[in-house]
Amino acid sequence: MYSRYLSRFLTMLGVTHPIIQAPMAGGATTPELVAAVSNAGALGSFAAATLSPAAMAEGVQRVRALTDQPFNVNLFILEQPAVDQAELAAAQALLAPFRAALGLPAATRPAKFCEDNQAQIAALLELAPPVVSFTFGVLDAATVAQFRQRGSFVIGTATTVAEARVWETAGADAICVQGIEAGGHRGTFLGDFEQAGIGLMALIPQVARAVNVPLIAAGGIMDGNGIAAALILGAQAAQLGTAFLCCPEAGIHPGWKQRIAQTSDDGTRLTRVFSGKYARGIVTDFMQQLRPFEHDVPAYPIQNALTAEIRQAAARQDQLEMMSLWAGQGAGLARPMPAALLVQTLADELTIALPGR
Ligand SMILES: Cc1cc2nc3c(=O)[nH]c(=O)nc-3n(C[C@H](O)[C@H](O)[C@H](O)COP(=O)(O)O)c2cc1C
Repeated sequence: MYSRYLSRFLTMLGVTHPIIQAPMAGGATTPELVAAVSNAGALGSFAAATLSPAAMAEGVQRVRALTDQPFNVNLFILEQPAVDQAELAAAQALLAPFRAALGLPAATRPAKFCEDNQAQIAALLELAPPVVSFTFGVLDAATVAQFRQRGSFVIGTATTVAEARVWETAGADAICVQGIEAGGHRGTFLGDFEQAGIGLMALIPQVARAVNVPLIAAGGIMDGNGIAAALILGAQAAQLGTAFLCCPEAGIHPGWKQRIAQTSDDGTRLTRVFSGKYARGIVTDFMQQLRPFEHDVPAYPIQNALTAEIRQAAARQDQLEMMSLWAGQGAGLARPMPAALLVQTLADELTIALPGR
């Protein structure tokens, strides 16, 4: 069905279709979603970045119980943050009105700002899922080699040619190139953030020229035509996040699903007010009201920890305007349907769009 070169890559990954359901931290990528995608012949991805090693192991066990097909487990690459007390107090003061509006008590210092990343990586090595992927940084070559020795296929995320080269040097099996269209957090870890905001159409061919590993394209891809375009530009697979958020198996608030399907082409924006790291989401009151302080809030993961209770309380109270409604620029093209049907629909569309490739 696919060309020889593409088929070789799919054989390496162990999947039938050049389609990856993106890892999406925060509970979106339930084991049910991951397994449904993998059972349908694409690659499901379980997001583990915000989970403790024990919770990660439990999630992976559930995925394994639901599918015997390959699946991916994703982590961030993070350092423990240096917390400045004055900066923390200023950030908490900015958030105080939102806490009050939701009936939350005055903020205290969070017990922790993020999971122990080294412990997560060690636990993932033990779990040795068929595929592992990383964003926000790069692993050292020795750790990449350890994953490969344990039989895990390693994917690194890049938003520029320079980042792709670094991952290639570290020994990655494939690189996920994330365009500026992408929903959720940007993986940028080298250089100037704004200069790294490259559109996928310009990014894929430039990375393809620079590195010798297979590429996975991510950002704004919502249908088989988009996947075909990414393949024509030089990618070997496409990673779709927002398209899978509207599946019944995705573990997000129903109001968020509704808003995705109603979003227009200009309905999303990059913001760092939720987490301290730029991420793309549907424009909300929270984003707009804190927009003047966009550059003042502490860096990830500090701001992320400070807004956690607000985001959780907002979800419990159906206050969508105070939630982080992450979505990519193609959100309005989302089609709510079961994940297996979405994979089949995308594969059918791709076959029509790429006859004989
Ligand atoms: C809700 C949400 C959460 C995300 N969380 C992660 C994550 O945990 N790890 C990761 O590598 N990428 C994450 N991403 C980015 C995706 O991997 C991917 O780059 C993006 O969804 C592609 O753009 P699209 O949403 O337009 O398809 C997230 C994206 C969304 C929408």
